[in-house]
Amino acid sequence: MRVVHTVAELRAALAGQTGTALVPTMGNLHAGHMSLVELAKRHGRPVVASIFVNPLQFGAGEDFERYPRTLAADCEKLAAAGCDLVFAPDVAEMYPVPQTFTVQPPASLANDLCGAFRPGHFSGVATVVLKLFNLVQPRVAVFGKKDFQQLQVIRELVRQFNLPIDILAGGTLREADGLAMSSRNAYLGASERIQAPHLQRELAAIVAAVQAGEREFEALCATAGRHLRMAGWRVDYIALRDAATLQAPTPDSTRLVVLGAAWLGSTRLIDNLDFGLGHPA
Ligand code: PAJ
Repeated sequence: MRVVHTVAELRAALAGQTGTALVPTMGNLHAGHMSLVELAKRHGRPVVASIFVNPLQFGAGEDFERYPRTLAADCEKLAAAGCDLVFAPDVAEMYPVPQTFTVQPPASLANDLCGAFRPGHFSGVATVVLKLFNLVQPRVAVFGKKDFQQLQVIRELVRQFNLPIDILAGGTLREADGLAMSSRNAYLGASERIQAPHLQRELAAIVAAVQAGEREFEALCATAGRHLRMAGWRVDYIALRDAATLQAPTPDSTRLVVLGAAWLGSTRLIDNLDFGLGHPA
């Protein structure tokens, strides 16, 4: 496995490749990221992983500075997983001039859910991902459902700009107690870590209620939010949406997703569960 840090080296290493599979990451890799590498290997070669903590997607006062940077350990994991090439640029390589051209996702996506609490976040994500797509020119790119709204933003980016890239979605890997794996779990103190799976349990309770026929979506989400607040969380949102559109469910919706974002102390956790609306016999 090669590790390159510059655009020139990346382009030289990939010259003539037509079947590249890209896995964009911010590093501090865990088993969830590695599952995306496994998915990528089944759909393209070479497999390229990018590792770049993208300042554009962090707001003022967010965790850009303290985001964990663990390049050597990340490269060991990627090599063991059979990744072919790692692109790990520094900020000056990725943004040699101020990035004044940016991608603005549609307001319906960019200002909703996480976007409502992190202004500019999805513009920063879409901008860096478009740059990575242009640099790597992959045939497929793999993203996790863990960041369900991000996945939707990327799908819409590819659709509206006619990018010749298939977007593949990997399922969310979880710890034994149900907590979604995340680089930010490292911020949790010991008692917060014990509390952390509560978010996922509230989302699962909503799924169970909907699958049992409950249709008072707003009341279900409000109840879940109340439970979390009573347990000491600060809740950004709990919402039920159509999984295909991320809009409010309609009578035609066949798949839903329940999404949540909430803070334990100074750590913001997000999670979601997507599920089918089966028609009981
Ligand atoms: P990062 O948070 O490092 O995540 C990289 C990819 O791993 C994303 O597609 C994310 O959805 C996926 N992922 C995270 N946790 C996961 C889990 N528990 N199971 C499966 N997949 C998981 O998302 C980003 O970086 C950035 O926004 C990026 C797309 C790289 C743009 O900067």
